[in-house]
Amino acid sequence: MHPHISFDRHTMVLHLLDQRKLPLIEADFCCKTVADVQFAIKNMIVRGAPAIGVTAAFGCVLALHELAPLPKPALDTALHTVLYNLETSRPTAINLHWAIEHMRSIYYSLAHAPVEDILAAFLDAAYNIQAEDIRICETLGQIGASLIPQGATIMTHCNAGALATAGYGTALGVIRAAYAKDPTIKVIANETRPFLQGSRLTCYELMQDGLPVTLACDNACAFLMSKGLVQCCVVGADRIAANGDTANKIGTLGVALLAHHFHIPFYVAAPLSTIDTQVTTGANIPIEERDPNEVKMLGNTPISPLDVPAYNFAFDVTPNEYITGIITEVGVLTAPYDASIAKACLG
Ligand code: MRU
Repeated sequence: MHPHISFDRHTMVLHLLDQRKLPLIEADFCCKTVADVQFAIKNMIVRGAPAIGVTAAFGCVLALHELAPLPKPALDTALHTVLYNLETSRPTAINLHWAIEHMRSIYYSLAHAPVEDILAAFLDAAYNIQAEDIRICETLGQIGASLIPQGATIMTHCNAGALATAGYGTALGVIRAAYAKDPTIKVIANETRPFLQGSRLTCYELMQDGLPVTLACDNACAFLMSKGLVQCCVVGADRIAANGDTANKIGTLGVALLAHHFHIPFYVAAPLSTIDTQVTTGANIPIEERDPNEVKMLGNTPISPLDVPAYNFAFDVTPNEYITGIITEVGVLTAPYDASIAKACLG
């Protein structure tokens, strides 16, 4: 896949592949201001925890570029407000907070430097976050590939692929690396209502790269597993608590519970930057609630009575006991997760 996030340092424009329009239309969404970046994250033009983090880092570059003419104390205040707004555009994915916090620390460490120097440091940092994310995905992909049984059919939920990261993907990174070693593996992509990340995005990117993928309705999961059609599950994560409880796209919990029932291994693939050691259990992870119209409409077509209330929780939390292992760039973390996570993250 071509890079879907690219920053042009000459024009100071961030180009995003508009994920709302895939798979039918490949359209470029141009962000010239930090407000454009905030709009893109909120409206899921770009989505997926690591991809949001990378995008936000370039958003910080645009913010500083816009505010640079302000004198120093006013610049500090204005930047603080703008970065806070950017950070709160989606609450669940910790990578968004992580990337902005990283940029903030650069800003404060260069407090007395000329603004042009801080801008140059921001740009370097954003490019580094982007390049590092691809490297991490490739590493965890290789590590995870060794867990995939020969000839397995792997179920995945949502899109944790190149489109959800800077490139290569976390869950789909594991699948890509496994496929390179064993071309007999197959993938089942759950459609992932209501935004359809599975049917629109996972199927699009796996088919582009020639990997064998079959689409399934979310509610087919139990039946497919009961028929012995799934040997392994691999999903991504938006935030992992210190005890291993994992927030990921709504529906992941159902897949994990079914995998447990049918004795199918269930893996989470995520970079260490997705682990939030400040949050002790999944109960403390904020869960985004989105516009009910995303559930009630398909594009511009209503698919339910217009006035019916609808739940639209964007994520759920899988308790750690249903997770066989968390695949990271430093190895596969296993239970007891408090200990394995503390060792991996805090040394
Ligand atoms: O609402 P989304 O599409 O941003 O949700 C994305 C997911 O839940 C992904 O599985 C997760 O961010 C991991 S992406 C590598």
